[in-house]
Amino acid sequence: MLIRKGAGKRLISGSLVMKPQKKLPIVLKVFVPFFLLISGILMFLVCFEQIRIDKKLRLVSISSAPRSLCQGYQFSKSETGYVHYPQPSNYKREECACTPVRYFAIISMQRSGSGWFETLLNSHENISSNGEIFQIFERRSNISAIKRILDRVYNLDFYTSAAKNECTAAVGIKWMLNQGLLDNYDDIVEYFVRRGISAIFIFRRNLLRRMVSQIANDFDRDFKQLNGTHKSHVHTIQEAEVLARFKPTINATNLVSKLDWTNEYIAAALQKMKRVPHLVVYYEDVIKNSSVLLDVQHFLGVPQKVLFSKQIKIHRKPLRDQIENWDEVYHALNGTRYESFLYDDYKI
Ligand SMILES: *[C@@H]1O[C@H](CO)[C@@H](O)[C@H](O)[C@H]1NC(C)=O
Ligand SMILES: *[C@@H]1O[C@H](CO)[C@@H](O)[C@H](O)[C@H]1NC(C)=O
Ligand SMILES: *[C@@H]1O[C@H](CO)[C@@H](O)[C@H](O)[C@H]1NC(C)=O
Ligand SMILES: *[C@@H]1O[C@H](CO)[C@@H](O)[C@H](O)[C@H]1NC(C)=O
Ligand SMILES: *[C@@H]1O[C@H](CO)[C@@H](O)[C@H](O)[C@H]1NC(C)=O
Ligand SMILES: *[C@@H]1O[C@H](CO)[C@@H](O)[C@H](O)[C@H]1NC(C)=O
Repeated sequence: MLIRKGAGKRLISGSLVMKPQKKLPIVLKVFVPFFLLISGILMFLVCFEQIRIDKKLRLVSISSAPRSLCQGYQFSKSETGYVHYPQPSNYKREECACTPVRYFAIISMQRSGSGWFETLLNSHENISSNGEIFQIFERRSNISAIKRILDRVYNLDFYTSAAKNECTAAVGIKWMLNQGLLDNYDDIVEYFVRRGISAIFIFRRNLLRRMVSQIANDFDRDFKQLNGTHKSHVHTIQEAEVLARFKPTINATNLVSKLDWTNEYIAAALQKMKRVPHLVVYYEDVIKNSSVLLDVQHFLGVPQKVLFSKQIKIHRKPLRDQIENWDEVYHALNGTRYESFLYDDYKI
């Protein structure tokens, strides 16, 4: 009703501008049918919009528990299907029952900064990311086991230390590509699309640094340098220094082909999962550019906050000081497409 009135006024003032005086009847003859047509179209649009809004509310409430309570919330059309109102089987969400929840998965490869990235996300009061839950083999031994776990996670029935007292507005996990994800990608993509789960891919640009981190982490798994405990992530500079004392030797003969292989693996993974709504984030960009974390929070539909992590970076020195056979590695990569990996791309 209101919209039509406004539109009518605009049309009337349009004819006033013309100041038609004597020619008024002709003008009316020409324009009256035109006015009627326009009003007809406007009426149709108003009704159509009404139908759309109704449909929207219905869509949102498909997975909504307290249907009548949560009607006040509205989402843009692109968001319906991505907001959910889970009903955990073991407790009531109570005052959070009308807080819509987004579902996500952080998808990555080992030693790509995803652990640090996840601690950053978990520092947000409304984000709960449950860690690398598919590290445990039984949980990923077949697709039905995987789906059973995912059902629990996204129904807020999976308890980890990421659980919050605050209203969870985004719930997720961290999932490595080699933890049953690529092996079952068809079914998993179907599940993600059907349940409205989005992916945040985090990769490392400098795959040589990733290699150093990987070899050093494997070494520590065997040698447990921190008082006999293996640690993949540390919280003090002293611990970081102990772990960084070991300088990996990298096989320079097959280095380029190994880097090629990793690049192709990542590209293939993105290709296989392209139907899932996603964001691709690079570790180096998260370090260098604070607006990347704002983008991530926007993507997850949570209020934007300053995020923090207690984790300390382990390999803090320039690469030349962290690779035992630096000269060999340098010559293997100098002049190749991976040459930039040799140089520092960020400061801590
Ligand atoms: C899937 O894996 C679970 C857990 O390892 C097991 O209990 C179940 O029997 C398996 N199901 C099939 C169909 O293999
Ligand atoms: C975030 O959590 C706080 C505390 O529980 C809650 O008041 C707020 O509504 C939540 N925000 C969102 C967007 O869910
Ligand atoms: C090892 O343990 C001792 C005594 O508990 C402690 O003082 C020291 O800081 C620890 N060292 C490392 C590298 O964690
Ligand atoms: C380095 O890689 C090449 C090619 O894969 C292999 O033949 C060689 O044995 C490796 N060298 C070492 C020291 O592992
Ligand atoms: C920082 O990231 C944003 C996107 O999040 C991008 O638009 C911007 O250009 C980046 N700034 C720099 C200096 O790279
Ligand atoms: C690196 O490669 C360039 C040519 O691509 C060459 O001019 C340069 O001398 C090389 N650097 C070293 C230290 O060998």
